Amino acid sequence: MTIDELYYKIIDQDIIWWILSNPRLKTQPIKKAVIRPVLINNQMMYQIETFTEKQAFHENVTSDGLLHSVQKIMVESSFKQLDIFTKKHDYHVLVNKRGEIMVKTAPPTKQVATMAHNQKKQYILEAGTPIPFLIALGVMTSSGKVVDKKYNKFKQINRFVEMIDDIITNFDETGTQDDSDTSSNRTLHIIDFGSGKSYLTFALYHYLVYIKKRQVKITGLDLKAEVIADCNLLKDQLGYADLSFKVGDINDYVTEEPISMVISLHACNTATDAALKKAVLWDAKVIMSVPCCHAEFNQQIGKDNFYGLIEHGIIKERVSALMTDAFRSKWLEAMGYRVQLLEFVDMAHTPKNIMIRAIKNSQPNIQLLKEAQVLQKELGVNLTIFN
Ligand SMILES: C[S@@+](CC[C@H](N)C(=O)[O-])C[C@H]1O[C@@H](n2cnc3c(N)ncnc32)[C@H](O)[C@@H]1O
Repeated sequence: MTIDELYYKIIDQDIIWWILSNPRLKTQPIKKAVIRPVLINNQMMYQIETFTEKQAFHENVTSDGLLHSVQKIMVESSFKQLDIFTKKHDYHVLVNKRGEIMVKTAPPTKQVATMAHNQKKQYILEAGTPIPFLIALGVMTSSGKVVDKKYNKFKQINRFVEMIDDIITNFDETGTQDDSDTSSNRTLHIIDFGSGKSYLTFALYHYLVYIKKRQVKITGLDLKAEVIADCNLLKDQLGYADLSFKVGDINDYVTEEPISMVISLHACNTATDAALKKAVLWDAKVIMSVPCCHAEFNQQIGKDNFYGLIEHGIIKERVSALMTDAFRSKWLEAMGYRVQLLEFVDMAHTPKNIMIRAIKNSQPNIQLLKEAQVLQKELGVNLTIFN
């Protein structure tokens, strides 16, 4: 059988996702590709997400272009493995050097379709199903309808939780978590820094505890005492026993507990740096952060820098934001993390659109740190992340 033949055999089934993996050559830059259906402007498309060691790239193709794209990726990256999950079956495909395939069909293991034809996007938190914390936070009406004004927030928290879900699954599969952990150590300790009204914190708790049945301990921290008091009231009303909210500055926050994951969503300016630094100090296995308001670099860099190319305010602002996150990722790499910078949500929904996802995978590398420090000096900045 060939890939074309398989494709035409399964095309009528609702496809949940495709995973292309296991490149024949270790030097091959694309390590994996994931394809899932998405609805864009009411048109059914397929999102192709390709992953290198450090980056993820997205491309959307129509169903007409899907087969061609899959074949192109399979050939260019010389993937040996293809897994296709549909509502009816799982297909595990091995590809030999001549491009011939061997298909093993198994009962379906993925029941949640990310998208089905002619349906709205299925989020982790589903629109149309009343979810108490979303109602209490004004994101949903009591009938489960997402409030128009809150749609972007709804989309963001869904996307964030979806990305955390990818990581947690990965942990379980690769055994990155210490299998000798006692059950209490297997509790996921998560801190959400700059949690604000804590849409994300509640969403994560709801998802991990009630949907994934995980044991968790989640803390939200923010400077705003009133907002935190409201969050604590709500979590008591909801009976979310392992969720707590604290008032405080990220810089001063101390804990004796082992922290599995640090997250932050739009923690302003250098509050993101504080979150990253605490995570590294605690040796957190996973860090997921969507920064915002990159003022520090912008204030320090002169207009004449970058060969005079940033004299326009808008360019300077965007270069500053990108450079800040580039330096943050260099710093995290130097601290022994594998870093990916991912598109968070569509630009149409928020321009604060880069997610830094970092997974601890090695020892700190002082040489890398020195190189990054030299680089920032050459640019004439002195960033919080290095101090
Ligand atoms: C833009 S809001 C984002 C809130 C929330 N994460 C969300 O996405 O809805 C940023 C939050 O970070 C908090 N914050 C800023 N600097 C902080 C710091 N140093 N320590 C703790 N919280 C901080 C602010 O009080 C604010 O609530």
